[in-house]
Formats: sequence, C-alpha cells, structure tokens
Amino acid sequence: MLEIITYPNPILTKPCQPIANPTDLEIKQLITDMTKAMRAHDGLGLAAPQIGKNIRLFLTEIDHELMVFINPEIQKLSGKDTRAEEGCLSFPGQYLPVVRPDKVKIKFTDTSGQKQIIKANGLLARAIQHEFDHLEGILFIERTDS
Ligand code: NI
Repeated sequence: MLEIITYPNPILTKPCQPIANPTDLEIKQLITDMTKAMRAHDGLGLAAPQIGKNIRLFLTEIDHELMVFINPEIQKLSGKDTRAEEGCLSFPGQYLPVVRPDKVKIKFTDTSGQKQIIKANGLLARAIQHEFDHLEGILFIERTDS
C-alpha cells in the first residue's frame, strides 16, 4: 500500500510537473495504487504529491464514481461562492471551512490518453478544486477562512 505523505512534508508544497506519456504502464500502475490508497483511507480524492510524486495527476471518487485527471487545466470557475468543511488525507482528522466557487470547467487527459473537458458542480467541483490545488503545491490550510 502506498503511504500517504502528511503535512509538513515539503513535497506537498512543490508545484508538480506535467506527465509526458499519460498512457505509460508506470502511470497506469500508479493510478491503480493511488485508487487503493484513497479507498483505504476513505478519501474523496487523492493527488500524486500526496504519495510523494510531483506529477500532474489526481483522482476523485464521489458517489462511487472514480475519475482520473491527468495534466488537468481549470478553464473556468463560476457559480456561487460556497463555504463548506473540507478534509485532506495529508491532514488526518483536520476539517476546515473553505470558500470555493460552486462550478468548475476542467480540461484533462484521461487514462486512455484522450483529452476531455467536463463541467462539475457541488461536491465534485469542490473536490476537483482541492485536488488541483495540490498540483500547484497549495494546501487547504492556505484557503481556509477560519
Ligand atoms: Ni488534500
């Protein structure tokens, strides 16, 4: 099982590098291992730096739907600013309120190497923004308004 890196490990605050070959076997294996680790810790999302890899990859799993985002680019944030408690597997047991826009439009590469654009709202939009922040080395303790 992959170990989850916890704060204040400096890996968590380093910006991540793009993945040159999203369909590489090494990436596929990493996604499988990250999925197991996320589920073992009951996470709604997990980003590669949280398992010690500074690459642009994160997962979300909301309502039993697993999504994999490789080289994601946020294209638009919109909707109402919404305040809700967030947790993070790198901060075990800590929950903090964070204000985020309710909607996100995001472009990414999927596991078959295809470019996709999706729109999300609600909890998925929040999870996407939280995980995307990890790829920029931004942690939710910097976003909280408490
Ligand atoms: Ni997190």
